[in-house]
Amino acid sequence: MDMNMAKGQDDTPRKVEHVAIIMDGNGRWATRRGLPRLVGHRKGAARVREIVDICPDIGVKYLTLYAFSTENWKRAEAEVSGLMSLFRRYIMREAERLHENRVRVRFIGDRARLDRKLIELMADLEEKTAGNDHLNLTIALNYGGRDELTRAMKTLAEDAAEGRVSPDDIDESAIGYYVDTRYLPDPDLIIRTSGERRISNFLLWQSAYAEYEFVPTLWPDFTAEEFAAIIAGFTGRDRRFGAASA
Ligand code: FPP
Repeated sequence: MDMNMAKGQDDTPRKVEHVAIIMDGNGRWATRRGLPRLVGHRKGAARVREIVDICPDIGVKYLTLYAFSTENWKRAEAEVSGLMSLFRRYIMREAERLHENRVRVRFIGDRARLDRKLIELMADLEEKTAGNDHLNLTIALNYGGRDELTRAMKTLAEDAAEGRVSPDDIDESAIGYYVDTRYLPDPDLIIRTSGERRISNFLLWQSAYAEYEFVPTLWPDFTAEEFAAIIAGFTGRDRRFGAASA
């Protein structure tokens, strides 16, 4: 990739093919309305559908969504199990539609701690959509950047101990092979909703050259129009979506 484009050091429109999103603010959205936090997560899941749908129209080829972090286990038991059940239902409900729309779905993160049914649904969806190429959707589930790097280093150490890799072979591209995102280009842009300005352990290795956009909108209110406008702002492209000016 052209580094001037990646860093936005000139007026050249930048390439924004891989967008990663920290979908924050579901809890506040619900609390402000006097509703249980899980209602906010359900609203958030509806937004996921809308954001996924618009990607191919605005030139986004890779979309990576932070759905559940390694730190999220610290939340109340009811919220964690509600989220897990939401992920199961999302996959069951959306699988056919994603496949029809030729979306390839993959998951990053440590699956070991997830329940068996969810692991099965994730693997089935990955297999079902493996031949699709309209959009690459990656869902980060029980994902943490440090956890990912720790797992990567363990595997690398095992390979070294077994003689499959020698210290001379270890360079940046080799490490890129050991992290969960081995099949993905680095993100061009990382968006975080809800006004928080933190990375929260998301894509630590992969974000070395990423641009960041922090927006005050809570995730359940984040529309396809707002998303398209952000992308247009980065690429210099202005397209119209329905009646809204992107
Ligand atoms: C952060 O908001 C959001 C989450 C921890 C869950 C993200 C999940 C979804 C958007 C729902 C479904 C996703 C998929 C991929 C189907 P928060 O609860 O931390 O909000 P707060 O900071 O206002 O409390």
